[in-house]
Amino acid sequence: MSEIAFVNGKFVPLAEARIPVEDRGHQFGDGVYEVVYAFDGVPFALEEHLDRFFSSMAMIRLNCPYTRAEVTDLIHEALRRSGYQNAVIYYHLTRGTAPRGHAFPPPSVPGNLVITVREGTTLPDEIAEKGVTAHLVQDLRWGRCNIKSLNLLPNVLAKQEALDHNAFEAILCKDGYITEGSVSNVFIVSQGQVRTAPADQKILPGITRMHVLELCRELGIPVTEKAFTPEELYGADEAFLTASGIDVLPVIRVDDKVINGGLVGPGSLKLRKEYRNLIAKRCLAI
Ligand code: PDD
Repeated sequence: MSEIAFVNGKFVPLAEARIPVEDRGHQFGDGVYEVVYAFDGVPFALEEHLDRFFSSMAMIRLNCPYTRAEVTDLIHEALRRSGYQNAVIYYHLTRGTAPRGHAFPPPSVPGNLVITVREGTTLPDEIAEKGVTAHLVQDLRWGRCNIKSLNLLPNVLAKQEALDHNAFEAILCKDGYITEGSVSNVFIVSQGQVRTAPADQKILPGITRMHVLELCRELGIPVTEKAFTPEELYGADEAFLTASGIDVLPVIRVDDKVINGGLVGPGSLKLRKEYRNLIAKRCLAI
C-alpha cells in the first residue's frame, strides 16, 4: 500500500508528485476540489461529490479536460493503485498553467486535474461519544461559499484560531447567524427539531449534511433549514457537526457555553449511528 498521486496526466508516488510553479491553483487558488472517503475499497457518495465538483466548476466557468466518466475512472484507478481499503481521496481541478495574470488563460490551456490518495483515518468512536468543543469565529469568507473553491485562507485561519483555543472546530458566525464550521456544517437539535442553515451562498452544501437531512426525513425527525443565532446554539438541547471523515460529531461546548450540561444527546448519537449504517450499507463488504 502506498500514497499515490495523479498529476500532469500520470500516476506517481505522492512524495514524488510535482505541480508546475505557474499552476493557477497555486498562484490564485483558481480551482475547485473535493474530499471523498473510501471504506473497504469503495468511495462513499462518489456520485454526489462528483455532482458538486462539476457544479463548482460551472460556477467558476472552469472546463474539465476529462469527461465525468474519465474522472470517475481515474479516481477508481488511483484508489486501486494505492492499495488502501480505507482511504481519503482528494481531487482538484485548477484553471491550468499559464504566465501569471488575473484574467483567464486562453481556452487552449487545459485545466490541471490532481488526485491524491492517502490512508483514511476515521475519528475514533470514543471522541464522538464524548463530544468535541468549538470556538466561535467571525465568518470572514466571500459571498460564494457554496462553491468548493481552493481559496481556503479564511477557513485555515479560523481552524487554527479554534485549535489555539483548544477547540476542535471553528464555528463561523456572519451577520449574527451561524453559517457553518471551518471544515464542516453545523446542526442543532431543539425540542426534537433538527435545524441547520439553509443551503444558500453562505455555506458549502455538505454531502454529509444532505445525507443527514435525508435520514431525518426517513426517520420522521422534524427538520428545518433555517439559520440560527449563537444564542440559539448555546441554548440548544444538542449540537453536532457533519463532514466527510467526521460523519456526525456531537459538540458539547462552544467557548465557555456548555450545551446540554456537557453531555452528548440521544439525537446526535442516533443520527451518527444511522449515518454510519448508511456508509456500511453502501461500502462495507458484510
Ligand atoms: N470539507 N463546510 C465546509 C466549509 C467544508 O470545508 C466541508 C468539508 C463541509 C462538509 O462537506 P462534506 O460533508 O461534503 O464533506 C462543510 C472537506 C472535508 C475538506 O475541506 O477537507
